[in-house]
Formats: sequence, structure tokens, C-alpha cells
Amino acid sequence: MELHWILWLNFLENTSKNHNILSVFNLYDLSMDQNTILQEFSTITTKEQLTETYQKYLGKNGLLSAELKNLASLSLEEKKEKGKKLTDLRQSIEEIFEKKEKEFLLDEVNELLQKDAVDLFVPAKTLEEGYFSLSAKTRRETEEIAQSMGFIVEMGNEVVTKFENFESVNIPITHPATEMHDTIYVDKKDERGENYVLRTHTSSAQNYILRKYGAPVKAVVPGKTYRFDEMDATHDVMFYQFEGIYVDKNISMANFKDVLTTFLTMILEKEVEIRMRPGYFPFVEPGVEVDARYEYYNMKTGKKELSNWIEILGAGMIHENVLKAADINPEEGRTGFAFGLGLTRMVAVKYGIKDIRLFTNGDLRFSHSF
Ligand code: FA5
Repeated sequence: MELHWILWLNFLENTSKNHNILSVFNLYDLSMDQNTILQEFSTITTKEQLTETYQKYLGKNGLLSAELKNLASLSLEEKKEKGKKLTDLRQSIEEIFEKKEKEFLLDEVNELLQKDAVDLFVPAKTLEEGYFSLSAKTRRETEEIAQSMGFIVEMGNEVVTKFENFESVNIPITHPATEMHDTIYVDKKDERGENYVLRTHTSSAQNYILRKYGAPVKAVVPGKTYRFDEMDATHDVMFYQFEGIYVDKNISMANFKDVLTTFLTMILEKEVEIRMRPGYFPFVEPGVEVDARYEYYNMKTGKKELSNWIEILGAGMIHENVLKAADINPEEGRTGFAFGLGLTRMVAVKYGIKDIRLFTNGDLRFSHSF
């Protein structure tokens, strides 16, 4: 039966006062048309159509819903006959609706599966192996060498108080190094109300180590240091230092020279020329600076040549004020030496790298070549 007939009859039924007569007609029409309705459902191709068709029959104002509502006004006999047919029809519609709904859900799931499909036959990507940067690798090796020579490894802090970075190592607070143009300050304030600084040297850990272990002590502190330096081939704003501190009875410069020679020979693993010259640091007396130079192949001349001298460390006998600041009494015959190796520059010397900015500029061609 044509749809407009159904609609028309429905309209009549809703507007007529004589529900009973019209309902019989409708019952007849709808039940006779059961196949057409089911056919209508089976040709549905979209979810929207399914909703629309369901609403048309079984929605709040649907044709069949209206018929079901009208049952109440019929006689018992009519109710029995019409009621059964209508509920059968409703059940058939619900069944075909559910079947269709499942089909659409299944289609959606299949579509999703298709999208996220895992093709087990695609060859797996090979994961790139991680490795340590040249600085990290050398730092670790240097730590091991120091440990093998009896030194404890301590990390210290990178953000330290002005006291730790300067005063505890005998640098007066009026020293030019404390100025903003040399030192990087952070906003956070310490208990003296002074801004913390990014350590400018690993010597900032000396006080902490001397307090923690007292004397005798043999310790090293590797780590990052920060300075407001102009960047060039031998200066960066962040670079690694490697502090060494050795306090015991009767330690002398001769001990320092011996330790340093063994230490550098083990780290550098190649013929490197070293020279020592006097140097000034407020926290040592006397103080020295150590330079190194190495042989390299000059492509311009096609010959092996010697590099310039590169300053790689500062060192000296620990100033008594530094021992006193850590409550160690120098009168008891305790002396010691300390050194601050520029680890970044030493790596450059070891591997013949002419510009230390290569360590941090993120050029993977450089990182991959070691
Ligand atoms: C110091 O930092 C002292 N604390 C070293 C020290 C420790 C002396 C204990 C005596 C006793 P200096 O500023 O010279 O010293 O730095 C030490 C080394 O760090 C230098 O020899 C150099 O190799 C390296 N260095 C300094 N500034 C930079 C920089 N901007 N970039 C890379 N390396 C640097």
C-alpha cells in the first residue's frame, strides 16, 4: 500500500471522532502492508534513513505508535484482534531495526579496523641506538679514572648560593667575578635574601665536600658550569668542569703534579704536551694554570702541526681561608690541593676538535662522527 494512503488514514484517524471505524481500516492497511514496511527497512542504506524510518512508524508520533495508543478506545474483541496484529508488526519492525542497526555498527567497527589495521608483513623500522655524547662519555670515563685513583665522586648542585660560589672559596663579594656580566643569577633567593646563581665553577662544591667528609678527603665533582662569557672556539656559556680536591697531612705541589700527570695520561690516551705556569685564584696559594697542545694534521699545508696552547685547568694548594670556612683547622697540619679541569676543553684536546661550540650546537653530523 502506498505511503500516502497510510498517512491519509492516519490523519483521518487523528481528526475523526469515530476512532473505532477508522482504526479497523488502519489495522487492515498496516497489517496488510507489513511486507512493504519490512521491505522499506531492508532498502535503507544510511544510519539517518534508519532513524527516520523507525520514527515514521514507532517514534512518538509514528503511525504504528498512534495505532497502539488507539487500542484503548476499542471494544475488547477488536482490541484482541487488532492488538495482536499491531504488536506483531511492532515486533517485526523492532527486529529488522535491530538487525539493521547491528549492520551499521559492524560497518563502523570494520571501517575503524581498516584504518588502524596492522600489517604484520611490513618490515619493522630499525630503532636507532642511543649513545652518550662525547662530553658525557668522557665525563664518565674521567670519573672512573678518578675512582680508580681513590677519589669519591660527588655531583654538587648547579644552582648554588653566592656564599657557596664565591665567599666559601675566598672570593670576596666585591670581586668583579660576582658581577652580573660574568655570573648568571636566578630569581630564587636564599636564606640571606640573596639571589641564587648558576655555579660559575665546580669549586662551589669545595665547601660542601670539606664539610661533608672533613679531612682527610679525596673527591672529584664533575658537572655543568655556567658563565656569561662571550662565545668563541674555546668559550661557551655552558661547559663542563671537573673539580678535584685532596686534603690530608703534608700534601704538597709535588703530589699534585704526580696526580695530574697520571690523571691526564689516563684520560687523554695520546701524546699531549702539557705546560704549567703560575696562575692566580683567590682560593689557592700558590696557584697554577695548565695548558695543553696536541699534534694534528693540517689539511691546508698537508703536514702534521702542533695546535696552539689551550688552557685546560686551574689548580693550586688550597688557601687556608677555604679550609677555615669549612671548619677544618689548617694548624693541624692539614693541607691539600684542588684543581678545576675544563672538561669540555680537554675533550676538544683529546679528539682534536677546534671549536667547542660543536658540542652544543645540535649538528647531528658532528654527534654521529664519534
Ligand atoms: C676556575 O674555574 C677555577 N675554579 C679552577 C680552580 C679550581 C683553580 C681549584 C684552582 C683550584 P678558570 O676560570 O680558569 O678556573 O676555569 C677552569 C677551566 O675551565 C679553564 O682552564 C678552562 O679550561 C675552562 N673554562 C673556563 N671558561 C670556559 C668557557 N667559557 N668555556 C669553556 N671552558 C672554559
